[in-house]
Amino acid sequence: MTFNPQEPYNDLPLLFPDEKYWKTIEVYEHTNNANRALAELKGRLSAIPNPQIFINTLSLQEAKDSSSIENIFTTNDKLFKAFTSSDLTDKNTKEVLRYGKALVSAFNSIKSGTVFSIDIIEDIYRNIKDETDGIRDSKVIIGNAFTTVYTPPCCKDVLLEKLNNWLEYANNQHDIDPLIKLAVLHYQFETIHPFKDGNGRTGRILNVLFLSSQNLLDEPVLYLSKYINEFKEEYYRLLREVTESNEWQNWIIYMLKAVEETAKHTLNKVLGIIELLENTKDKIKSVLPDIYSYELVEVLFTQVYSKYTFLEERKIASRNTASKYFTKLVESGILEKEKVGNEFIFKNVAFYNLIKE
Ligand SMILES: Nc1ncnc2c1ncn2[C@@H]1O[C@H](COP(=O)(O)OP(=O)(O)O)[C@@H](O)[C@H]1O
Ligand SMILES: [Mg+2]
Repeated sequence: MTFNPQEPYNDLPLLFPDEKYWKTIEVYEHTNNANRALAELKGRLSAIPNPQIFINTLSLQEAKDSSSIENIFTTNDKLFKAFTSSDLTDKNTKEVLRYGKALVSAFNSIKSGTVFSIDIIEDIYRNIKDETDGIRDSKVIIGNAFTTVYTPPCCKDVLLEKLNNWLEYANNQHDIDPLIKLAVLHYQFETIHPFKDGNGRTGRILNVLFLSSQNLLDEPVLYLSKYINEFKEEYYRLLREVTESNEWQNWIIYMLKAVEETAKHTLNKVLGIIELLENTKDKIKSVLPDIYSYELVEVLFTQVYSKYTFLEERKIASRNTASKYFTKLVESGILEKEKVGNEFIFKNVAFYNLIKE
């Protein structure tokens, strides 16, 4: 097979790649390590009373990292602000925020038992890109102004054939470790490249959905984009090498390491957040016993910036009381008051500092 980067790669082989390309001792060992780290994360999370409170923050971090791989940049502060208050948001921050929403909405479908489908994949793409089209029916290229490194298959009928084969592997059980399937599915999705843009981000959302569909995670908390962003050049090179020379082993190991490292990192992060939450709880109990409730502390950790309505919605306080609570929390140094547009929002200072580390 001679691969020509200038021509649509309609010869992209259907799944699954022959074992001879990837069934090695090294892959086996990395698979074990990644599974072990993941199982520990899953186990420790299941002992936490309300792991859902981390979802917003972690999914926003993922949105930021995944978009940053595609040179769509925003800052933590802008993103957290925009999450709480829809006022005054720039184009990139909006796009990153859409990624977060696309992720959570697709995760909920998969969690409720929906299988992967063209519709779900198109929805993710449309949500991220704020577009109405779907699978492309025109040619795209990967590369820069000087060189084309890869031309994905074309057009719609070919893409649908490849995607249906992808879906068969994503939805059915096979005698292959799910983490190896994850790596292969991610390569295959990126190589199919079904949309005119947004393929990287859609594919990275599919990664976390796939993990949860395999019961490897109960909550959407394992996000590989931070790792991929850190080793971005390798990510591109390894994707290319699978296409050019069936170099599956290195690609799969890369993804397994991403899972292992990310599981460990996420566990540390979550433990750090819990510790801070406990400390904050103790502090409020001792300094502001008259306003303390566990629900109040939880709200302050559900997102970085809070506002009055969050307390009203959860029936913790009326609008007036909420304002008194926030004033006291500001006086005791836990929150910082800021004005965005014409509303006040309150930053959980220690939480913010911990997240951005
Ligand atoms: N040689 C390659 N083969 C297959 N996929 C690639 C290759 N190089 C890059 N990619 C994938 O393409 C993504 C970028 O595609 P794009 O549609 O622009 O996504 P997004 O808009 O999310 O940036 C990269 O993040 C990567 O996953
Ligand atoms: Mg792009």
